[in-house]
Amino acid sequence: MPSNSALFPRNFRKDYPVAVRGEGCWIVDQAGRRYLDASGQAAVVNIGHGIAEIGHAMAEQSSRIAFAHTTQFHSEPAEKLARRLLALAPQNFRSGGRVYFTSGGSEATETAIKLARQFHLESGQLSRYRVVSRHQSYHGSTLGAMTVSGNVARRAPYQPLLAEWGHIAPCFCYHCPFDKKFPACAIACANDLDNFLDSNDAASVAAFIFEPVVGATLGAAVPPDGYAQRIAEICRDRGILLIADEIMSGMGRTGKPFAIHHWNIEPDIILVGKGIASGYAPLGAALVAPRIVEAFERVSGAFQHGFTYQAHPVATAAGNAVLDYIESRSLFERVQPAAEILRAELSGLASHPNVGEIRGLGLLLGIEFVKNKSTREPFPNEDNITERIRQAALDESILTYPTQGCVDGINGDHILLAPPFIISREESAQIVRALHSALQKVFHT
Ligand SMILES: Cc1ncc(COP(=O)(O)O)c(C=O)c1O
Repeated sequence: MPSNSALFPRNFRKDYPVAVRGEGCWIVDQAGRRYLDASGQAAVVNIGHGIAEIGHAMAEQSSRIAFAHTTQFHSEPAEKLARRLLALAPQNFRSGGRVYFTSGGSEATETAIKLARQFHLESGQLSRYRVVSRHQSYHGSTLGAMTVSGNVARRAPYQPLLAEWGHIAPCFCYHCPFDKKFPACAIACANDLDNFLDSNDAASVAAFIFEPVVGATLGAAVPPDGYAQRIAEICRDRGILLIADEIMSGMGRTGKPFAIHHWNIEPDIILVGKGIASGYAPLGAALVAPRIVEAFERVSGAFQHGFTYQAHPVATAAGNAVLDYIESRSLFERVQPAAEILRAELSGLASHPNVGEIRGLGLLLGIEFVKNKSTREPFPNEDNITERIRQAALDESILTYPTQGCVDGINGDHILLAPPFIISREESAQIVRALHSALQKVFHT
């Protein structure tokens, strides 16, 4: 399609309206059309769009000092936000944990990979460098983050550029990779880490990274009780670090500050992004547990890593203003009741012959579409079901987050719903009415 845009787009075959304003759960384009943001723009916009006080806090910081390089200075907003994030983290981060701020999720993943490697160097374990992860996962688009990601489509073009450090089975009960059922499965997918280490040079493994709730790739797949605990136990027993990628699932999205709080595990590194500044500034972070910090302090004293814009004063001021907003309105506490209302509305879709499963935790929800409900067989990839559902929902002015490949990396259709925490009952009903009509349009039922 010919275009006079100077922007390199995500997709040259698509037209992009120009967003000019945001109001709560709504985005308004140049032509005045209003869109209900049912996915929080990829699970980013936790507090809602267009909140002027966040911009004011950023302007205020910018007018005092916008930038000071972290090789020479620390800044007040970064220091303050680091303390607040550690206070939200599990107990093991509380005394002596530190926060490494980045400009987004992928940079946080890169930081964690290098932290894990250098931690083992500091500890005299020179052979450890591989970060093992899971198939059907996503940790970011830079090459290190893509190396540990298991998202088939996103990796495919770059395969020759990626190291192969090893991926274990996903934890995905609806399409169990072991064809088993919980609890009789005895969490075979967690034990897959142990088995993998037995036969894959465990002495070279530095860390294991996982999304506690798998967001985009599997459409909000939640592990059964015991999975996260067993993974944490294996990591501890094997002397490898545990990295929880909470870039999508963290900052209250599942109803607790971090999703790992649902299972009471204590990882060594927690990655944060997206909701940390709710889209008001590019911001991410790696929360680092004291035992890692101590190793760096005791031995080399310096992390061989860095970004010009890390711990940016204006971005961290946005993070503080977002947390102020969340705390003053108890927005983390709103997630569970809002999720119950949305789930109740969605339950009317469950009986549809092509709705396989509605799953998720808090306001991180996924709907998977299947060809055959009893066998859970997906539609062939070429049918483009996800894209057709997205388009049909968009026709009703509802924005969703579509992805294909949840079954085997290629086939499997789902959409993600991750609205702002302030979503109202009427807005939830509006989303579900649009989905009903989208299903009717796409499946003629
Ligand atoms: C779980 C997870 N990790 C990492 C990333 C990468 O974050 P970013 O796009 O901010 O680089 C994402 C983005 O979708 C994500 O969902």
